[in-house]
Amino acid sequence: SAAEKGSFDHFMMKEIYEQPQAVRQTLAGRVDPAAGSVDLSGAGLSPDRLRSFERIQIVACGTAWHAGLVGRRLIEAWARLPVQVDVASEFRYGEPLVDGRTLTVAISQSGETADTLAAVREARRLGSPVLGIVNVEGSSLAREADWVLTTKAGPEVAVPSTKAYLTQVVALHLLALALSRVERPEEGRMLLQLPQRIEQTLAMEPRVRELARQLAGQSHLFYIGRGLDYAVAMEGALKLKEISYIHAEAYAAGELKHGTLALIEPGRTVVALATQEALRTKTVGNMVEVKARGGRVVAVTPDRPDARKEVEVAADALLALPDAPEGLLPVLAAVPLQMLAYFAAVERGCDVDRPRNLAKSVTVE
Ligand code: G6P
Repeated sequence: SAAEKGSFDHFMMKEIYEQPQAVRQTLAGRVDPAAGSVDLSGAGLSPDRLRSFERIQIVACGTAWHAGLVGRRLIEAWARLPVQVDVASEFRYGEPLVDGRTLTVAISQSGETADTLAAVREARRLGSPVLGIVNVEGSSLAREADWVLTTKAGPEVAVPSTKAYLTQVVALHLLALALSRVERPEEGRMLLQLPQRIEQTLAMEPRVRELARQLAGQSHLFYIGRGLDYAVAMEGALKLKEISYIHAEAYAAGELKHGTLALIEPGRTVVALATQEALRTKTVGNMVEVKARGGRVVAVTPDRPDARKEVEVAADALLALPDAPEGLLPVLAAVPLQMLAYFAAVERGCDVDRPRNLAKSVTVE
């Protein structure tokens, strides 16, 4: 109802604005502010049990799968464990290689997605214990998993997931740190800055709205990025597709030239994420390739002189993120991409909260 939406026109925007609080609640009691250590004993997972696993298998659908792709990067980087991420419906009917030494991590906002539940049952049948990362307490996934790490996003009403995604990504940061055999106090403490940094990122709204209006008439968009930025690009493209019905695809920036560059023609817009300093020069190179074919580049990069200077040369428009610790930037970058999809959809007169053909929770396989 209108009252529940408060001053917002749609639940989606209300939920975008609830992200600082959702993330704060997801971090609460799980990170020691002084030591920077992560404690998942609330999920029933002792450090020894966690560190007994040799591999991680992530299963999820849709936006939760995109969170899983971020999680893979984090777990591989911090815990140095091999991680496989599968769409639940593919895992289920593949020939999954999981066993007792594999921790299966199932991510789901609703905890009721049929494909994800089927994947969980298959993993458990093969002897792999399951950690559920789930938003709805008391859901089927929460009941069937061996351990549950709750995302504390609160009820998410809009079909396009925003705050649930961000809290899933945060939960995966916590898991990656908890799985790490070495202490990573700086990363732990860094996470505690997130709520305030997301707050700052929300201030990008007028800028994103202006850009979305310019893009709303397009029929295809590309999103590119490397590493964590690639995973975030995939979520940005999905958000745009599902609510504005503008076709969008995400590519690993380095892969563009292996085929998709053929689709770049004058006026074609590419949203390029360049949040990571070590990868920036390479991504800027890809932006230059796009521009050389007449494409239009919207760059997402931190508001820092060095980053801006390098990126601006190859960008037609800039979405400048708050200057935050680099590890937080891919998380923050999701926020303007949510808003970009939102305003493009509103501009096109779409039913943002209830896009055609989609359901909040898909309980059939
Ligand atoms: C549906 C929703 C998506 C969501 C997916 C997985 O398709 O429309 O937004 O990402 O289900 O939902 P879950 O509840 O398992 O996270």
